[in-house]
Amino acid sequence: GRHDTAAGIARVYRGSFVHSTRDAALEILNDFVLGVDKSGKITFIEEGKNVDRLAQEQGFNTADVENLGPGEFFMPGMVDTHIHASQYTYMGTALDLPLLQWLNTYTFPVESRYRDLKFARDVYTKVVKRTLRNGTTTACYFATIHTDASLLLGQIADDLGQRALVGKVCMDINPMVPQYKELLDESKDETLRFIRELLQKKYPRVKPVVTPRFAVSCSSSLLDALGEIARSSGLHIQSHISENKEEVELVKQLFPDCLSYTDVYLKHGLLTDKTVMAHGCHLTDEELKIFHKNGASISHCPSSNISLMSGILNVRNVQKHKVKLGLGTDVAGGYSASILDAVRRAIDTSKVLTIEHPQLRPLTFEEVFWLATLGGSEALSLDDRIGNFEVGKDFDALRVNVSVPGGPLDVFPEDVLKVIVEKFLNLGDDRNIVEVYVAGRKVVPFSGKE
Ligand code: GUN
Ligand code: FE
Repeated sequence: GRHDTAAGIARVYRGSFVHSTRDAALEILNDFVLGVDKSGKITFIEEGKNVDRLAQEQGFNTADVENLGPGEFFMPGMVDTHIHASQYTYMGTALDLPLLQWLNTYTFPVESRYRDLKFARDVYTKVVKRTLRNGTTTACYFATIHTDASLLLGQIADDLGQRALVGKVCMDINPMVPQYKELLDESKDETLRFIRELLQKKYPRVKPVVTPRFAVSCSSSLLDALGEIARSSGLHIQSHISENKEEVELVKQLFPDCLSYTDVYLKHGLLTDKTVMAHGCHLTDEELKIFHKNGASISHCPSSNISLMSGILNVRNVQKHKVKLGLGTDVAGGYSASILDAVRRAIDTSKVLTIEHPQLRPLTFEEVFWLATLGGSEALSLDDRIGNFEVGKDFDALRVNVSVPGGPLDVFPEDVLKVIVEKFLNLGDDRNIVEVYVAGRKVVPFSGKE
C-alpha cells in the first residue's frame, strides 16, 4: 500500500530509459516507468505495462505520470571526474604549449586572480551553469589555492544543484610564478579550514576533496601533511599523475628516493580507494598494479591529452589491470566543458592507438557511455549513490530529445533506440539535453529561485 513508501512518490516518468549495469555497458529499456520519491531516490523502475499495479502499490495517480515524447529518452547524468573550474575563463584558448610551459605561461597567472571573490563568483557561476547544461550532474573540481573562493565554488554548486567534489588546490613550490603558491604551514592550515568550513555548511551533495596540485608543485612535507589529513578525515583525494614525459622525468629528479611517480603518492599516503588521479598516460604496468592494489582510480582526459600534446592513455591496458576509470574534461587543458566531447575524444584516441597497434580493440560507444556514467561514479566512489537507474539510487538524469527543432542531429523512422543513443553520443549537444535532474530536483532549465 501507499504507506510502504516512507518518503512518498514525488514523480513518475514513463518512456525510454538507457543506462549501464554491472553486466551491460548499455541496457536499453523501451517503455519503462520510473518512480522518484520526495528525497530524490528511485523507488521503482519497471515495464510500462505494470503502471496500473504500480500506481496502486506505490500510491500515485496514473494521470500524474509524465510521459516522454517521441525522440526522447532518459539517461543517467554524466560524471566529470576532473575539471578545473578556475581555468574556465580561457577555455578554448592557450592550447599551443606543452604542460609545464602551459602552466607557467597561462594557468598560474590566471589562477592567482581568485583572491578576488567577485571574479571567482562570476566565473564559478558560469562554469557550474555551463557544465550542468552540458549534462554534468556530478563534477570533481579543482579550484585554486584560495580557501574563500573554493568555499564559494562549493556554495554555487549547492545553489545551482550540482553534485560536486571541490578541492582547494595545495602547492608550496612554484619557481617560475612565485606569487602563486603557499607556505607549507599555510597550505596545511587553509586545507583544514576549507574542509571544516565546507563540512559545516552541511551541503547534501557537495564534499571537500584533498587536492595536492601534483608532485612537481608540492614539497615532500606538504604531501605528507595532506596524506595525513586525508587519512584522518577519510576524504577523497585528487591530483595529477604521469601526464607528460617531461613531468615524469622531473618527478624522478625531485623524488630520487621514490621508485616511480605512483610511489611518490603512495609513500605520502595519497593513494587510497578514494583517490582519483588525472591522466596517467605514461604509467607503467607496475604502477597500474599499485593503483589496482590500493583501489585508486584514473580520470581519463583525452581532450586535454591531445591539446597539450601529453600522450594517449591506453584504456585497454588500464582495464586489463582492473583499475577504476572515469572521464574528465580537464578544462582548460581540454577545450570543452562537455563530457560528450570527452566521450568522442576517448573513442578517437583509442582508434589512434589501434592504428599503431592493430591488436588493440578501439573503445565502443557503449563502453564510453559506461565510462561517462557508471564508470565515473565508480572512479569517484559514488556508485552506491549514483551512476545508473538502480532502485535506491538518487535520480540524477538527463532528459534527452534527439528531435529538438534546429538541433544538431537527424533521426529516421528506422532508427531504434540504440542507434539514437549512438547518434546522440557522437553528434548531440546541450540543445538535446532538455532537462537535467540531480537527486530528483530539476536543475536545468534553471528555475531562477533556490
Ligand atoms: N598538472 C598540474 N596542474 C595541472 C593543471 O592545471 N592542468 C593539467 N592538465 N595538468 C596539471
Ligand atoms: Fe587537470
